Amino acid sequence: MDHRRVLLAVSGGIAAYKVPELVRALRADGHEVRCVLTRSAAEFVSPLALQTLSGSRVRAELFDAEQEGEIDHIALADWADLVVVAPATAHVLARMAHGLADDLVTTLLLATRAPVLVAPAMNVNMWAHPATRANVESLRGRGVLFVGPASGPLACGWEGEGRMAEPAEIAASVRLALGPASLAGRRVVVTAGGTREPLDTVRALTNRSSGKMGFAVAAEAARRGAEVVLVAGPGGLATPAGVRRLDVETALEMREAVFAELPRADALVMAAAVADFRPAERAEHKIKKEDLPEDAAPTLALVRNPDILAEASRRPGRGVVVGFAAESRDVLAAAQRKLERKGCDLLVANDVSRADAGFDSDSNAVSFVWPGGDVEELPLLSKSEVAARLWDRVEKLLGSGA
Ligand code: C5P
Repeated sequence: MDHRRVLLAVSGGIAAYKVPELVRALRADGHEVRCVLTRSAAEFVSPLALQTLSGSRVRAELFDAEQEGEIDHIALADWADLVVVAPATAHVLARMAHGLADDLVTTLLLATRAPVLVAPAMNVNMWAHPATRANVESLRGRGVLFVGPASGPLACGWEGEGRMAEPAEIAASVRLALGPASLAGRRVVVTAGGTREPLDTVRALTNRSSGKMGFAVAAEAARRGAEVVLVAGPGGLATPAGVRRLDVETALEMREAVFAELPRADALVMAAAVADFRPAERAEHKIKKEDLPEDAAPTLALVRNPDILAEASRRPGRGVVVGFAAESRDVLAAAQRKLERKGCDLLVANDVSRADAGFDSDSNAVSFVWPGGDVEELPLLSKSEVAARLWDRVEKLLGSGA
């Protein structure tokens, strides 16, 4: 990823204790980070911890003879490719909205020409207060970006909206804000997770897919500036920043959602583990053993589900279509046959018999299988990295008008 410069402004809320984790996440993404603090921020987070993690001097004072000598505050404002305010208290939002410049943080915010991303954190009633609402509206109107706040238990004892977004989510928003935008103007559809095929009102057939690979593919496309629709099977993963999510349960619902979006899509990536079969009938009530003769079990009749990938690949005028194949034996040969049968442009094959790859893992060892027999074997990579390599390939196909 590009080497970008993030100026992280920390204000004095309890959520500041999560900022060291945010600094680590930003550094892990390859960004250079410098931290500036309001005076009260240092009550909640150690400047020394931030200094150690960011590898840069932390500043809190506007008039600091020594540090101004190193890099004056206007140079610091100009240095940033992006300014992140996390946590942003109600007070900092108010000062930003009114253009005050009464400390280092607000002066930098007024002086910078870089985009600003804000992660508010405060008591639920302060967030809901008309004064804060008006300040947020006014900042949004000026193009300030927001991430969060989330809902949940708050440090003050109240429950509701006001929790700072998690560091990983803020880091994702930073990637979006700084993204290379190589997919800007493109619409993509990504499917993720398994499907759940109901037998009756309480039971279902499903599979072990976690959805992590598809969510990483969707997140990476959004980071590159695409408009992303994520058709997601059941699962508890958080929606990546900048992604429109459509929740579905069954293969038939997934098919419907995909084909509703497909006509306007430049690319479809089917990372979902779609059930090949569903129960022929769905009982209206729970199937009860008491209704059967002693020791008897019902026979399960299954029917085939439509193959969404194969059907999408055959649609005239379709964009780039990518499939996934989870195999446990003869992985590459099986993937090659699958690619031909389905008619997609690229098949991502993974060996699900490996413990360090595939279902529920954060890493994946995949091969890109191309029509005509070419195969690219990738090393064990994080799912985010696999997603990045995948979009590099799809971008080439899009560029060549595939
Ligand atoms: O045939 P198999 O299930 O191994 O193929 C896997 C690929 O096909 C994946 O991309 C999956 O999303 C897609 N698929 C589909 N509809 C099905 C079954 C699989 O689109 N009914």
